[in-house]
Amino acid sequence: MPHSHTVCVYFVMALSAAVTNPITEDIDVLVFLPQNNSYLFSHARVAPAILYAQRTLRTDGGRFSGFHFNVHFEKSDCVNDAIFVLVDKSCGQKPDLILGPVCEYEAAAVVRLASHWDVPVISAGALAAGFGNKKSEYSHLTRIAPSYGKMAETFIAMFEHFTWKSALLLYEDDKEERNCYFTLEGVYHQMIDYNIKTYAFSQEDRLDTEDVLHNIQDTEVVIMCMGADKIREVMLAAHRRRLTSGNYMFFNVELFNASSYGNGSWKRGDKYDNDARQAYASLNTLTLLRTVKPEFENFSMEMKKSVEQAGLHDCKDCGSVNMFVEGFHDAMLLYAVALHEAMKNGYSKKNGTVITSRMWNRTFEGIAGQVSMDVNGDRNGDFSLMSMTNVEAGTYEVVANYFGVNGTFQLLPAFNTDHFTLRGRHKAQPETTDKSCGLGVSALTGVIVGAVLGTALLIAFYFFRKNYRITIERRSRSEEGDTGKHRQLREDSIRSNFSAA
Ligand SMILES: *[C@@H]1O[C@H](CO)[C@@H](O)[C@H](O)[C@H]1NC(C)=O
Ligand SMILES: *[C@@H]1O[C@H](CO)[C@@H](O)[C@H](O)[C@H]1NC(C)=O
Ligand SMILES: *[C@@H]1O[C@H](CO)[C@@H](O)[C@H](O)[C@H]1NC(C)=O
Ligand SMILES: *[C@@H]1O[C@H](CO)[C@@H](O)[C@H](O)[C@H]1NC(C)=O
Ligand SMILES: *[C@@H]1O[C@H](CO)[C@@H](O)[C@H](O)[C@H]1NC(C)=O
Ligand SMILES: *[C@@H]1O[C@H](CO)[C@@H](O)[C@H](O)[C@H]1NC(C)=O
Ligand SMILES: *[C@@H]1O[C@H](CO)[C@@H](O)[C@H](O)[C@H]1NC(C)=O
Repeated sequence: MPHSHTVCVYFVMALSAAVTNPITEDIDVLVFLPQNNSYLFSHARVAPAILYAQRTLRTDGGRFSGFHFNVHFEKSDCVNDAIFVLVDKSCGQKPDLILGPVCEYEAAAVVRLASHWDVPVISAGALAAGFGNKKSEYSHLTRIAPSYGKMAETFIAMFEHFTWKSALLLYEDDKEERNCYFTLEGVYHQMIDYNIKTYAFSQEDRLDTEDVLHNIQDTEVVIMCMGADKIREVMLAAHRRRLTSGNYMFFNVELFNASSYGNGSWKRGDKYDNDARQAYASLNTLTLLRTVKPEFENFSMEMKKSVEQAGLHDCKDCGSVNMFVEGFHDAMLLYAVALHEAMKNGYSKKNGTVITSRMWNRTFEGIAGQVSMDVNGDRNGDFSLMSMTNVEAGTYEVVANYFGVNGTFQLLPAFNTDHFTLRGRHKAQPETTDKSCGLGVSALTGVIVGAVLGTALLIAFYFFRKNYRITIERRSRSEEGDTGKHRQLREDSIRSNFSAA
């Protein structure tokens, strides 16, 4: 069939033209990272990953080798630096792509402006629930690391599976970056079908464990976000009160540094170690599921090398790859894929709307494995649940994984259903023994939509004890109806002052 031959020849010619003549373009990238190495996403840690991606894209000889990324690093301070730099820098020419900032408040300002300017922003941060609003002010934001809302799906799947009904969200609020506040705010938003109480305490104050335990009493599950020492205090107090014998479920959220919790975090070398070990037998840790693949090895080694070459001394474990490092690397790849596609379809790099939309609702191969972006431009998250599996030794293992892309749990051999069954309050639910049960898919779909940023239409009680304030807020299902109020409060979930609600 000569006809189809011709078509075939044309096709091959077109193909080889595409390979030998890749689309060329110069792309100005403005990156906002803090200099201070106490951040897991400091310049020293993340910059090598962005440069690694830039190198890979240029040299792998593929369809992206015509892209020349001019990467400019600017400092951010998690307060206002980034927005000022962005405004000053953009008097002449606006960047084509912004990477970062990570910190919520700083990101809010930058993303608002960038969205107005039609400039795509990709961040491995901006994890707060409020950034999920892509309809207006955050329209150009793509979140390349799983947000707190995605993390909350894991809890919902568990609540569904174990038929838990109520939870106390217990967190330490630093009133500055407010990471724990935003972390549990994500849970709060998602769990509209449950009876949720919150309890915040400020960082400077002594933790009144008696009062905390008093508030635990009428809930089943306690979800905590706070420093390791405070966690230990709470767990020890709970243990003394015999609340750690299966009558309550304890969770702590430690997304980025979980190895510190997972193994031996109860240990302090004091007289309470033995109690703490026993108490931690009922503490489960939720963390990010990390994957690796062969290419990751080289990447990881290169990261270590870069940090060593830079001779950083104030930066312990700076060479280790965390979610931010990985995320900003993959951000470059995702942008390249989207830009290439957009240009092939006749758009220019200046059409940020089109490029942004092409980064959403797709799956691509990241440095550590598949990265799946949802239709709202947020990464689907995979999380691991760790539990103490050997109480004698006090060691933890990952017992289950949650896959955000399909909303299923994978129960690992170390998983023990008894451990997650509330005792002395509920009748045990009839339990299937199927170890690979998929759960929570139906629960999740409705919730994600329904979670729209309804922070706190709450009845708030303020307790003043000693010289610090504790906020207890309770929500019941019926209060959720008033969506008008929720819309008003939308801003608060970024600017946020839910203690002052
Ligand atoms: C870095 O951040 C930490 C924690 O926020 C702070 O204590 C320290 O003073 C900062 N260092 C510098 C050089 O700003
Ligand atoms: C990780 O956790 C350990 C123990 O809590 C802590 O000493 C260390 O500073 C943490 N690392 C980072 C980067 O937060
Ligand atoms: C936990 O710590 C113990 C002893 O410190 C060690 O033998 C074990 O390999 C560690 N487990 C993990 C998963 O890191
Ligand atoms: C990583 O791979 C590159 C190219 O294949 C190679 O030049 C480099 O030496 C490798 N790095 C390490 C640390 O193995
Ligand atoms: C980007 O592309 C869209 C879709 O074709 C178009 O509506 C819009 O006007 C373009 N924007 C710019 C700045 O060219
Ligand atoms: C997302 O992608 C899937 C498959 O690629 C497609 O069927 C679906 O229509 C897309 N959704 C949106 C909202 O673009
Ligand atoms: C869900 O996704 C994970 C990761 O992609 C996969 O391993 C698992 O088999 C999937 N489960 C189902 C039920 O599709």
